[in-house]
Amino acid sequence: MEVSVLNRNLKETNGLLLVLPVFEEGELYHELNEVNNKLGNLVKDLIKNKEFTGKLNQTYLINSLGKVNFKKILLVGLGKEKEITSEKIMQAYGSASKYVNSLKLREYSTVLFKIKKLDTEKIIESIVLGARIGAYEYTKFKTKNKNEINKIELFSIIINEQVTKIGEAVKKAIVLSDSIFLVRNLVNEPASLKTPLMIAEVVRKAAKGSGLKYKLFRKKDLEKMKMGAILGVARGSSQEPVMAALEYNGGRKAKKIALIGKGITFDSGGINLKPWEGMTAMKMDMAGAATVLGIMRAASLLKLNVNLFGLMPLTENMPGGNATKTGDILTGYSGKTIEVAHTDAEGRLILSDALSYAEKNYKPDKMIDFATLTGACLGALGSKIAGLMGNNKELIKELEDSSENTGEKIWELPLYEEFKKDVESKIADVKNLGHPKGYAGTITAASFLSEFVEKTPWAHLDIAGTAWSDETANYLSDGGTGFGIRLIIDFLMKQNK
Ligand code: BES
Ligand code: MN
Ligand code: ZN
Repeated sequence: MEVSVLNRNLKETNGLLLVLPVFEEGELYHELNEVNNKLGNLVKDLIKNKEFTGKLNQTYLINSLGKVNFKKILLVGLGKEKEITSEKIMQAYGSASKYVNSLKLREYSTVLFKIKKLDTEKIIESIVLGARIGAYEYTKFKTKNKNEINKIELFSIIINEQVTKIGEAVKKAIVLSDSIFLVRNLVNEPASLKTPLMIAEVVRKAAKGSGLKYKLFRKKDLEKMKMGAILGVARGSSQEPVMAALEYNGGRKAKKIALIGKGITFDSGGINLKPWEGMTAMKMDMAGAATVLGIMRAASLLKLNVNLFGLMPLTENMPGGNATKTGDILTGYSGKTIEVAHTDAEGRLILSDALSYAEKNYKPDKMIDFATLTGACLGALGSKIAGLMGNNKELIKELEDSSENTGEKIWELPLYEEFKKDVESKIADVKNLGHPKGYAGTITAASFLSEFVEKTPWAHLDIAGTAWSDETANYLSDGGTGFGIRLIIDFLMKQNK
């Protein structure tokens, strides 16, 4: 979807459809009456009769019948003005794009609105982001009625006064949304078409296109490096495990941040095979790795003043004849021995090798990992909030601030020392399973990870719930979400302030 900024008066602009944002119980778009009195009155009547209230994501289509130079007008609710956030603006424009898609229109326009609470640049960024990612659909494998699939090609924002940095705001929104598309496409891809080596190839291409350094560790390299945990998970699969690494250098004196993402390209559970319901969406278990790729791509294209190291351990978790068995002991890159008490707790295994590798070799100032790690996180926080844990209050606070700023919701769970005993093993240094009754499963998983971080400020985001959406609504589409890109880009932008 192309984005164009039209520096004009609404009166002088024409098109097929105009999206008019409306606040609940608020003032109407202030120029509406100047543009056309009849239209202004019509909308006022709709609101008065409560046919349209301006509630967030509510839509109402009007045939404009010559009242303005647009054939159709789509009212979209923003909710109450005093409760407005950039997240809500994104949602409203996501809803608008979905409606426009349902009308099979290839383009639409909107007028910029201004409010005291948010910078105009931020409003523009949110409008473009919401409109673009809201139009996303994964249609690659649809053959039936293929010509009925709509693609919005042009989105115009009518701005009738000078706003500084419009170009930058639009560019940022395009970079972010394209990165989100990259993540969504990867997550939605069937597992058989995204084996570890195939994902590595996508990473290589994306790195090339965005100026990132790329390196691939093949299985023989992992063996040389004694990454026994990753190799242990991969044993039951016929696909070669690999680890893709990305580097971005954004400034000599800038902070060094390592980003690590769980890349299980399919999680069958291994020998502890999942029941069918639990396995259905398990192609999404590489969302953490995809998130790291998306963040690094965006950071590089936005030329952020920070240094990044991205690490993506990639493997399938399968129950092949050579698979790791429960009770087996793996020795990871750190040298610690790990009892495999459950083969379906594989994410923490591959992350343990990646975390210790990143800490020892890159020596980052901060480390963040992203992982669809536990079903328990869905139980605790649902599908709209990611679990946040870590070993450093400041880092947690920084992430919470970025969450507040972007609307990508995270919530800290207490990673107390008390949980260490849950991952103690009778025969090895640690075991990959927590309390026998599954108590605090999200925290015990993080507690296991913390065994592989020696001294670096580290945060862990459990995105098991947020990486995937079961609904198609506002800017979300059934499948991969791209959660975390906006959050971490906001975080990275604040690193050297
Ligand atoms: N990939 C799953 C977690 C998951 C579940 C992600 C649902 C997204 C949606 C992970 O590897 C897993 O299987 N975790 C187990 C851990 C348990 C065996 C300790 C789980 O959550 O059941
Ligand atoms: Mn699993
Ligand atoms: Zn998994």
